[in-house]
Amino acid sequence: MEKVFYVTTPIYYVNAEPHLGHAYTTVVADFLARFHRLDGYRTYFLTGTDEHGETVYRAAERAGEDPKAFVDRVSERFKKAWELLGIAYDDFIRTTEERHKRVVQLVLKKVYEAGDIYYGEYEGLYCVSCERFYTEKELSEGLCPIHGRPVERRREGNYFFRMEKYREWLLDYLKAHPDLIRPEGYRSEVLSMLSEPIGDLSISRPKSRVPWGIPLPWDEEHVTYVWFDALLNYVSALDYPDGEKYRTFWPHAWHLIGKDILKPHAVFWPTMLKAAGIPMYRHLNVGGFLLGPDGRKMSKTLGNVVDPFSLAERYGRDALRYYLLREIPYGQDTPVSEEALRTRYESDLADDLGNLVQRTRAMLFRFAEGRVPEPVPGEELEEGVGLPGRLRTLVRELKFHVALEEVMAYVKALNRYINEKRPWELYKKDPKEAQAVLYRVVEGLRIASILLTPAMPGKMAELRRALGLKEEVRLEEAERWGLALPGPIPEEAPVLFPKEGKVEKKEEKEKREPITIEDFAKVELRVAQVVAAKKHPNADKLLVLTLSLGNEERTVVSGIAKWYRPEDLVGKKVVLVANLKPARLRGVESQGMILAAQEGEDLVLVTVDGDIPPGAVVR
Ligand code: MSP
Repeated sequence: MEKVFYVTTPIYYVNAEPHLGHAYTTVVADFLARFHRLDGYRTYFLTGTDEHGETVYRAAERAGEDPKAFVDRVSERFKKAWELLGIAYDDFIRTTEERHKRVVQLVLKKVYEAGDIYYGEYEGLYCVSCERFYTEKELSEGLCPIHGRPVERRREGNYFFRMEKYREWLLDYLKAHPDLIRPEGYRSEVLSMLSEPIGDLSISRPKSRVPWGIPLPWDEEHVTYVWFDALLNYVSALDYPDGEKYRTFWPHAWHLIGKDILKPHAVFWPTMLKAAGIPMYRHLNVGGFLLGPDGRKMSKTLGNVVDPFSLAERYGRDALRYYLLREIPYGQDTPVSEEALRTRYESDLADDLGNLVQRTRAMLFRFAEGRVPEPVPGEELEEGVGLPGRLRTLVRELKFHVALEEVMAYVKALNRYINEKRPWELYKKDPKEAQAVLYRVVEGLRIASILLTPAMPGKMAELRRALGLKEEVRLEEAERWGLALPGPIPEEAPVLFPKEGKVEKKEEKEKREPITIEDFAKVELRVAQVVAAKKHPNADKLLVLTLSLGNEERTVVSGIAKWYRPEDLVGKKVVLVANLKPARLRGVESQGMILAAQEGEDLVLVTVDGDIPPGAVVR
């Protein structure tokens, strides 16, 4: 099989700022492009902006700007957004570019000369936001089914494309290619659209009303209808008709769209292609809507959009990408929220993956001299067997959320593997065996990091760096065991997915080396009674305690203000580390430290169960 892959996003209208709904489709396309590149495909990834038409023209008017200046500015915003999200497109097409206009006019001419375009009068129900006419039946309670806004009855002299002529052909094509439109539900929708006449398509607008568009080559008084113009971006960017890119990539085209633009892509576009003598695209992949907090489609018109810029800034671009891909079953409407993103971040990324890297590094330092140990044969975990192959299938079938779930299940299994093998105990009996366990974990992480690279390219490169692995990878390297080479790992590595407090706390639990009873005896622990407590004068988090050891008093500064009020502490018997070197904390000298137990956000003081005088030794 020829390994060539071409993926496109819709080209976005420049009448609105990019929001999370746009970002989603673009992230999916980037994920697919990266996945295929990693898998050795010659890959081309196209995105861009749709800059003609009535909506854009009116938006420019409202903004009080010249349309060209307006589209230049907003188009840049999209580029900026994609940069922030790590979108590595190969080309960004703008429909106002010469290279695009040329192709639109060429195709129009071809179809016109073939007799598939004619002039006529049209009357219909038009939604200005959608830039299209609706049939009575398509409306929802008389309103535009997408925007919920009134439609206008319009009568116009238009040029028409003989779309109906190609309906039977398209129906047959769809039946012969059951995987053309995916997921299946959308295919059935199209089949039912095609089960009755679809009519011809109005493909022009009078220039007098909409001056912002590509003129028809044979009639300057009309500009091209924005959809006929826009759809052609998928080939104009490849230098249709005789560009090398067109020849190479077009037969492998995967279009990604949202379900609201199904009809233009599943009906207009194929019939246009047929009429122009261009072969059909390979797949039309249809995504569902991201829903806002109100459960409705996220859209500018509804005012419920989530800003991808600020989420990327706060959680990191890779975490946002991961969230979108992991959370949303492709094709289905899915509610999205910052809260759900945070949950994924904390549980999947910080607790499972980030923590695995941290503890692995810590153990490599303790039990393997800070090196990746000598290779040992073989995967030991069921979850890892055949994983890359399964992933390929899942990705090609658009089941991204399942694909990521499987890799994360492997990460979880690696954590369990460590817990079961207990390298810290094994090391005492058989250091070689402890190192073998660690090697397997490093290999597992190497493999998982490759598989997660298309979703989180930056973080996974960082992960590999933290383990002394090579950064550049190929997918097939995930299918081979033993590629992690022995060698030193870097002394310092940033926490991959920092999470206030918790990550470090967990780490401490495992970091401890075994100590002898003599080691322990070095710590002088004593019962102490709180005789006074007050807030620290210079720090909100700290309390200043006066403790009695029976025949001696101590001042101790303790970071427990979040959990205890000073007045509730007086009288409590706590445990003091009595021989800790004094330290000044925000200007107050602390003569020791009291013990507390912490788990996540909870903290309780260690107190003494029963009656014993202050000063008593604890051991
Ligand atoms: N310009 C046309 C596409 C022309 S393609 C030849 C267009 N632009 S758009 O900016 O309005 O929408 C672009 C894409 O963003 C569509 O696929 C649309 O489905 C998608 N989304 C817009 N809001 C969305 C959500 N809330 N959720 C998911 N996708 C959404 O249509």
